[in-house]
Amino acid sequence: MGMKKKMAGLMALSMMAFGVMAGCGSAQNSSTQDGGAPAEGGTLRMGTNATFPPYESVDENNKVVGIDADIAQVIADKLNMELEIINMEFDALIPALGAGQIDFAMAGMTAKPERAEQVDFSTSYTTGIQVIIVQEGSDITTVEDLKSKKVGVQTGTTGDEYCSDDLGEDHVQRFESGIVATQALVNGQIDAVVIDNEPAKAYVEANEGLKILDTQYAVEDYAAAIAKGNTEMYDKINGVLEELKADGTIDKIIAEYIHE
Ligand code: ARG
Repeated sequence: MGMKKKMAGLMALSMMAFGVMAGCGSAQNSSTQDGGAPAEGGTLRMGTNATFPPYESVDENNKVVGIDADIAQVIADKLNMELEIINMEFDALIPALGAGQIDFAMAGMTAKPERAEQVDFSTSYTTGIQVIIVQEGSDITTVEDLKSKKVGVQTGTTGDEYCSDDLGEDHVQRFESGIVATQALVNGQIDAVVIDNEPAKAYVEANEGLKILDTQYAVEDYAAAIAKGNTEMYDKINGVLEELKADGTIDKIIAEYIHE
């Protein structure tokens, strides 16, 4: 096992341990990113699910890092607010917005019509692709081949929705994170994982014997989510995001994490 794989494996393990922790009841992990004195503009609370590198993961100091965390930090700075990141289950984010526990969510979240009934989506800041992870020797080569298989997904994600719709509930196993789903694939408990391409690359990198199929399941737009009807917050977040898209800041942040 190469050093890189080993390190990545350890990282995945510690992320997994965190994932398990976060799975217990209402356990949440909240931290202000900068520390120090509170900003004049108050606190901006961002919800995320930090099992999703390079968009969000937890580093060795238990800090949430990644593309979404960096973008959120710039948004907070521009608004003269202090950023607080609240880490929770992915399927808890939309309810947390509704309950006013967070001001916005950034979690590699796909903007889609069903969700837009519950939250308002900002302008899209990047795209993601649903891909299929399999074991290296797998006989699965197409989406079609998943029909007779057991597929792992992260609960409440678009991958969960597509697989449940296309393959039927019997063929889908839900996990609290893509990391845990990938572990089940490594252990042979499931035949494939359907999840977004960049996290998929990170999971495959962290484990021996896995590969990503060339087939693209779906292409999606990622956006920040704000509680439905909170136009004041919407205008703040969306206004800055539009600005960061236009001036190249978003592209610059993404390029720090994703090297094509
Ligand atoms: N893009 C997919 C969705 O919106 C998956 C997002 C999962 N994000 C996460 N931080 N775990 O459903």
